[in-house]
Amino acid sequence: MANSTYIFGRGYLSATRLNLQHFLWKENLGNDSHPNIPMEHHNTKIADVGTGTGYIWFLSLAKRLPSSFQLNGFDISSKQYPAVLPKNVTLQIADALQNPPSESIGEYDVVHIRLFMGVISDNDPLPLLRHFFAEPGGYIQWEEYDLSAQKVISSQPSSPTKNLAEMSERMQTRWPTSWVKSLLHIFEAQGLEIIAVDTKRLSEWYAKMSTEVDCILRKEFASTVLDQKGPPGSGEELRNQIQATYEEVEQGSCISNLLQVVVGRKAPQA
Ligand SMILES: C[S@@+](CC[C@H](N)C(=O)[O-])C[C@H]1O[C@@H](n2cnc3c(N)ncnc32)[C@H](O)[C@@H]1O
Repeated sequence: MANSTYIFGRGYLSATRLNLQHFLWKENLGNDSHPNIPMEHHNTKIADVGTGTGYIWFLSLAKRLPSSFQLNGFDISSKQYPAVLPKNVTLQIADALQNPPSESIGEYDVVHIRLFMGVISDNDPLPLLRHFFAEPGGYIQWEEYDLSAQKVISSQPSSPTKNLAEMSERMQTRWPTSWVKSLLHIFEAQGLEIIAVDTKRLSEWYAKMSTEVDCILRKEFASTVLDQKGPPGSGEELRNQIQATYEEVEQGSCISNLLQVVVGRKAPQA
């Protein structure tokens, strides 16, 4: 099964982008799972929804948690899954929005969702949140960029920024993510207790790497969506814009991203 509406790629560049992005998040947040989520019980079950490459977040956990922890990943496509994984990691193909596996609903002590920008439609994350509720007493950790807080930064006042500013603006128009800012209230409206809301601006040391990730993402969009279904020449036009943007990066400007982590807990059964 492969979701033809997925707007990014699934080849090696895309896999490398996701894996690098994982390290950017981990380096900057200082953790993989939020420190307020207890990881004490030896039979803890953890789900990674829309797991992507299927290993990068799990390998980070598997290295530090007992092998009795069960780590289950789901994605609508297995194209980026590896052949070899730790024994306590299993990966499945499942559509988290339309038809999640029934055995997964309400089953997990911890549910992890990261980077669903570009998958959530109508600015509404509820369909996903409803399907993948953790079990009573369980936790959900959802991590997204807050695109509305993107800033263009420069190492020198004379570095050009015009194309970067346009890229940032276009990303915000193309992928409306006002739901990211509201995630806390959406959690609350679903009866989840808020355990943490952390925002962290990516360190300026990592801003170039992060901008390179954004450039790759947009290049994937050009070939996955614009070349296939866009107006003639629109994919090429976007690739030219990315090239012009990257010339500004080479002169010391980049985009500074804000990371947001929301952790909620489902009420324990009375
Ligand atoms: C941007 S990637 C993020 C991957 C991973 N969470 C990470 O942080 O590295 C989004 C992933 O969501 C998956 N996806 C898209 N629609 C989905 C759906 N309806 N159900 C499950 N996964 C889906 C895509 O295949 C892709 O692997």
